[in-house]
Amino acid sequence: MNIGIIGAGNIGATLTRRLSALGHTVFIANSRGPASLGDLAAETGATAVTVREAARRGDVVIVTIPESKIPGLPKELFDGVGADAVVVDTGNYYPRQRDGKIAAIENGLPESRWVETQLGRPVLKAFNTINWRNLLSDGKPAGTPGRIALPVAGDDAAAKAKLIQLIDELGFDGVDAGGLDESWRQQPATPVYGANLDADGARRALAAASPLRRPEWFATPDGPATTNRPA
Ligand SMILES: NC(=O)c1ccc[n+]([C@@H]2O[C@H](COP(=O)([O-])OP(=O)(O)OC[C@H]3O[C@@H](n4cnc5c(N)ncnc54)[C@H](OP(=O)(O)O)[C@@H]3O)[C@@H](O)[C@H]2O)c1
Repeated sequence: MNIGIIGAGNIGATLTRRLSALGHTVFIANSRGPASLGDLAAETGATAVTVREAARRGDVVIVTIPESKIPGLPKELFDGVGADAVVVDTGNYYPRQRDGKIAAIENGLPESRWVETQLGRPVLKAFNTINWRNLLSDGKPAGTPGRIALPVAGDDAAAKAKLIQLIDELGFDGVDAGGLDESWRQQPATPVYGANLDADGARRALAAASPLRRPEWFATPDGPATTNRPA
């Protein structure tokens, strides 16, 4: 499969490594341009491209950049990209640590609905619940007890099925987490977030989530600061 990845940080580089090793053709992009991705390309066999090329070359396009950087992506990023391309958002909103205030999210819009409006393209929310180290190292064959589950939320059943298949190849159980309006159930601070649960546990955790954003997940006038010392 051709896979475009926009963002070459913790998650983008990890997915480049894992998906290239599985035999997929990966097109990887960051904000600084292809020349800055020579080492990752040489290591993995992925092709370093521009952001626009990554969007156009992927059957699956994974957008994996900080939430606050999403509005800086080119406005016509997905112009000319076929409707069958699956677009995946891995993002999490960290207002005090990294992103600053995004009013629409703080007013209750699920994070990935906001990303979708910014991109002008339907998205699936996935990979946001797992730390990159676990994504790199903890994939297991299907049927292994305790295999980590990754929730996948979105409104397109065919797109979800395609992504869940890819997640299975990576060594994780893709769990259908409902439509994108339900995707708050897997946002930061929910029971499934970062918990590395198996499929049954993930389903229980998704069902037990509260739609109320905790106070510490709202921006402050002082932020954003850093991960270790939030505003
Ligand atoms: N870290 C994790 O374990 C983890 C787990 C699950 C989900 N997430 C979420 O996934 C997203 C990415 O996280 P990360 O930890 O991988 O981030 P990261 O390590 O900080 O990397 C960010 C990447 O985004 C690129 N970028 C920034 N602005 C861009 C733009 N306008 N166009 C193209 N590329 C751009 C950066 O490129 P340059 O270096 O060239 O600027 C960099 O490659 C975040 O929303 C995060 O909350 C992270």
